[in-house]
Amino acid sequence: MSSSENNSKIDQYAVIGNPIEHSKSPDIHLLFADQTGEHLNYKKMLAEEDKFSQVVTEFFTNGGKGLNVTVPFKNDACEFVDELTEYAKNAGAVNTIYKNESGKFIGANTDGIGLLRDLKKSLRVQIINKKILIVGAGGATQGIVEPLLHEQPSELLIANRTASKAEAIAEQFKEFGPNVSNIKACALNEIPKQPYDLVLHATSAGLQGNNVELPVEIIGSNTCCYDLLYSDQDTPFMQWAKSYHAEKVVDGFGMLLEQAAEAFYIWRGIRPDTAMAQHYFRPDSKAKPHL
Ligand code: ATR
Repeated sequence: MSSSENNSKIDQYAVIGNPIEHSKSPDIHLLFADQTGEHLNYKKMLAEEDKFSQVVTEFFTNGGKGLNVTVPFKNDACEFVDELTEYAKNAGAVNTIYKNESGKFIGANTDGIGLLRDLKKSLRVQIINKKILIVGAGGATQGIVEPLLHEQPSELLIANRTASKAEAIAEQFKEFGPNVSNIKACALNEIPKQPYDLVLHATSAGLQGNNVELPVEIIGSNTCCYDLLYSDQDTPFMQWAKSYHAEKVVDGFGMLLEQAAEAFYIWRGIRPDTAMAQHYFRPDSKAKPHL
């Protein structure tokens, strides 16, 4: 049998984005496949910004089994699929596509679940009755608010450069918390000067090496500062948080692993070991105790 024939029998998965070169998803999913003994291929797919549905249609027509979706296509993916899971519908974003038994395309969003698993399992950060600040009100924030509210924080404040965008997200999700008054919104310069238990940085400023100016008073002795971005070096937000001695300062690599694990579970019905994967990719990480 030729290698291409051989290849065509292996279940095909991919991540689609633009740019996509930097993506760690193939490494992660191939490690999960090794761990679990699942036989699959996983590749990166670059699509022109106006060619999302064409590339995705071709991928599935050629036998593709499942797709991860990243920037800038998470909204396009919502339009593409036949049905959305509850989280994906409320987030307005899809990061995982699969086909159900009747051949319909289903769009899921595993980002919020990924964040919560990383916080609770790896970092031992609980949300219930805690004060949480989210900095930023873009797509990343939209994807994490609902699962966070289900954990019943005492307060969830969304602060954004453009306050109206934070207000719109707070309004959209106000029914999901235990009471409507615990989700609030403000401009960056209106953040109350008081400690939060958890500060989630969800702006894209760090991608350009910029830091968002925040009051130092938000860091107390037990504050966890979490950047949803990930990088081999400390992000500008992490550098800032460390300089003010936040108790825990981490990037979003754990979230990336956990959202991938959830997608893997959706596709293959088997849960990979993310603690082992964390150790494999970041053997020196002290910030993330392995269980
Ligand atoms: P994503 O999907 O990654 O969240 P996005 O939807 O473009 O990306 O949102 C980017 C977020 O980063 C927004 O909250 C944006 O603030 P505005 O809504 O005011 O644009 C925030 N952001 C980007 N650059 C920033 C900067 N230099 N300072 C403060 N906030 C910034």
